[in-house]
Amino acid sequence: MTQKLFTLKDLLPVAQKNHFAIGAFSARFTGMIEPIIRAALELQSPVIVQISKVEFSWYQISLPYYVRKFHEIYSKVSPNVPVCLHLDHTNTLEFVQEAVSGGFSSVMIDASSRPLEENIAYTRQVVELARKRGVSVEAELGRILSSDKFETTSEEEIFTDPLEAERFARETGVDALAISIGTVHGVYFTKQPKIDFDRLEAIRKHVQIPLVLHGGSGIPVEQIRRAIQMDSGGVSKINIATELEMTLYESLGILERLPDVEFWKLPSQQIARAQDAVRELTKKKIKDYLLSDQKAYLYD
Ligand code: 13P
Repeated sequence: MTQKLFTLKDLLPVAQKNHFAIGAFSARFTGMIEPIIRAALELQSPVIVQISKVEFSWYQISLPYYVRKFHEIYSKVSPNVPVCLHLDHTNTLEFVQEAVSGGFSSVMIDASSRPLEENIAYTRQVVELARKRGVSVEAELGRILSSDKFETTSEEEIFTDPLEAERFARETGVDALAISIGTVHGVYFTKQPKIDFDRLEAIRKHVQIPLVLHGGSGIPVEQIRRAIQMDSGGVSKINIATELEMTLYESLGILERLPDVEFWKLPSQQIARAQDAVRELTKKKIKDYLLSDQKAYLYD
């Protein structure tokens, strides 16, 4: 029998207390789910498999199909490590509802483009909805941009304010908070990632719930480790998407985005090679970046 999926509420406080982080790996293709879970199993690490609302449309995947595929793999591999199925960035209550009833064990509501009061009110609705089904909620405060916008935006406009974070966590009741402290989504061009550790320290002082770092691709390992290992707990979930996808494309010798259905039409050897590459990179991230290898026992 397949064991129950974990939530962020089950996973992250243990990571925070023990100074490691859990990787939230974006499985943009359904073909990436298995190598991510197998990597975690090999290294006895907890793991989060995630996909966002926009990624469903980029790769032309329906939510029920994704969940079905996930469960097929999960039953087949039957991993004895904690696994969470998380809906990444989503900006509507309706889509969150679909994920909650569809079988996700965790969701992210991203209302960070709205003014603070509205972000709080909208996020609170999501928390109420999710909590009834035992599903955990992550939300975002401050704005984590994509790398193209990062080049042209002043940092002060987008970084998370520690006092606002305290209020946001208290009034929404979310299980985890994504903060903006110097990382962005995607590939870095001229401006390089520079985590604002003073800001992270200040946020940690005001907020007790686990913190999430988005834009985990391309961050120097020293910065990541420092962010995870801070005495105060640091960040406990790190999202990684771009590097994984680039590795997959490189191993396939493909430059352009491919719909999920086309991926499965490729020759089986090519698929296997791509899945091996994803598994290897996931293992490297678990061991060198996240420090979550051999931590599954903490959840027994
Ligand atoms: P990267 O694409 O920079 O790895 O960021 C992933 C992410 O934060 C997904 O929410």
